[in-house]
Amino acid sequence: MLDEPILRIEGLCAQFNSTEGAVKAVRDVSLSLRRGATLALTGESGAGKTSVGLAVLKLLPYPGRITAGRICFDGTDILTLSPEEMRRLRGSKIAMVFQDPATGLNPVLTVGAQVEEIITAHLPVSKREARKRSLDALAQMGLPEPEEVARSFPFHLSGGMAQRVMIAIATALNPKILIADEPTSALDVTVQAAILDDLRQLQQRSGTSILLITHDLGVVAQMANEVAVMYAGSIIQAGPAPTVFQRPRHPYTWALLRSRPRWDQDQARPLPAIRGSPPDPADLSEECPYLPRCPKATSVCRAEPAPALSEMEPHHFAACYNPIYTGEDAAGPG
Ligand SMILES: Nc1ncnc2c1ncn2[C@@H]1O[C@H](COP(=O)(O)OP(=O)(O)O)[C@@H](O)[C@H]1O
Ligand SMILES: [Mg+2]
Repeated sequence: MLDEPILRIEGLCAQFNSTEGAVKAVRDVSLSLRRGATLALTGESGAGKTSVGLAVLKLLPYPGRITAGRICFDGTDILTLSPEEMRRLRGSKIAMVFQDPATGLNPVLTVGAQVEEIITAHLPVSKREARKRSLDALAQMGLPEPEEVARSFPFHLSGGMAQRVMIAIATALNPKILIADEPTSALDVTVQAAILDDLRQLQQRSGTSILLITHDLGVVAQMANEVAVMYAGSIIQAGPAPTVFQRPRHPYTWALLRSRPRWDQDQARPLPAIRGSPPDPADLSEECPYLPRCPKATSVCRAEPAPALSEMEPHHFAACYNPIYTGEDAAGPG
């Protein structure tokens, strides 16, 4: 069915076990990524965003493991696939790019060799065809003079170019899903904007669905159709991006939006920080994980277990006993 989301995650739980106990990095996460759409997964560092992305590719590093849930890619539960089937899926159907391109590129191979490698690993094409496709992939990611880039070694590249190369490698086989984990967070804003633009164009051309992991709400606003906000391993608010920005029902989403720098804000005024810090994921109780920091908490929040997501309005969910309703709903990010 065409309406069937390309990726559906249901009740995903993942944890890292150690002698000190289990770090519950992902707690009962459910998400749907529509075909051709961009879903942003946002929240502070440590919320579990990267773990969700890695779980989708079954690449959680040891001692991480998935303990519950289903991950359906195009109708197949990928948790039931064999390692060989997973290898075939990775790169060709679902690809991932990370924040730091330096760690993803091989320093002793030319850029061209690295793009060609992913193509020949998955497709029965001639060397010549692989070369042509790799130059196309580089050109698609806004790299002018792709021949010259292909001849370069990674150390010749600026941070922005290296990240474009990484995205070119990830998208060389036209994957159905691109998981982009903080793809521009290490880059300065102009380069970031240009790369996001190229990503959007690539998506329009090839219909790629994007799971965009970012702590930057500005990036979410620029890129995402849908957004899910994570806190301490759980999704606490989710819905169409404009709706969530206009009506941040969960006090955490509200605080995140307020702590964003705005172009029209007096530079001398300090940004309102979110008081307190996220809970220790190795020591989570049954209660709402945001309770200790929440200015809206009431006796219900202290008495009851953490609230489940409930529908605030069609397609818009928040997990809060006291969702914020105000006349002056927060202005979207500037
Ligand atoms: N390799 C690992 N070993 C142990 N704990 C980990 C590992 N990777 C992540 N974690 C823990 O899992 C939680 C979620 O981390 P992560 O998914 O990286 O969050 P985010 O991407 O939102 O910053 C954090 O508490 C983090 O410390
Ligand atoms: Mg991360």
